[in-house]
Amino acid sequence: YDYSETVEFLLDWYDLNRRFLPWREEPRPYYVWISEIMLQQTRVEAVKVYFERFISTLPSIKDLADCEEEKLLKLWEGLGYYNRVRNLQKTAKIIVEEYNGQMPADYDKLLQLPGIGSYTAGAIASISFQIPEPAVDGNVLRVMKRVAGSFDDITKAPVKKQMENDLREIIPRDRPGDFNQSIMDLGATVCIPNGKPLCDKCPIIHLCNGFQKGIQMLIPVKPEK
Ligand code: ADE
Repeated sequence: YDYSETVEFLLDWYDLNRRFLPWREEPRPYYVWISEIMLQQTRVEAVKVYFERFISTLPSIKDLADCEEEKLLKLWEGLGYYNRVRNLQKTAKIIVEEYNGQMPADYDKLLQLPGIGSYTAGAIASISFQIPEPAVDGNVLRVMKRVAGSFDDITKAPVKKQMENDLREIIPRDRPGDFNQSIMDLGATVCIPNGKPLCDKCPIIHLCNGFQKGIQMLIPVKPEK
């Protein structure tokens, strides 16, 4: 599937429908990083509260690096997956020591940091630094595989890798962060998981193979256990 035609429709839709999120209006790398890690395990509405408290208590990467463990765990309490907040602090310390307290504006350097995989590196790079890298998570895979009408197993690493390569080809150089976030928002509000996507609200319905074949609700396939 060639995703290039989706770009203008997704960006136009995003301009009209973008959600206002606390980390979006001033997408500093630190804010995008913290919010993306929180969003990997928790719904947007709950993350808003945790995010605001985290950032007001620890306004900079240096503050995070220097924070007492007990205080840090308290800020994370209720979010679960405590290894994630430990990785946040590890990475904050590396950024203070090796990068003068500034998140590196480089996809490959971001990927080296503890707790930062291709999704998070792509989100930070594209949203904060306008670097044309994709940010592919399960939501993006669901949306784009429906559009392609593909029954690929999205839990398989090579399927994700291929999607990253496909999107890297077409990601708009002038608005990479908006493009990535348009897919995330479409997946959260229209091309929703489980049951029926709201196809009558979709800006790329005319490009959607899944819709044209009537198989959109069958994608993604649940892998065999
Ligand atoms: N889910 C995870 N990251 C997101 C983002 N930056 N915007 C919207 N939804 C998201």
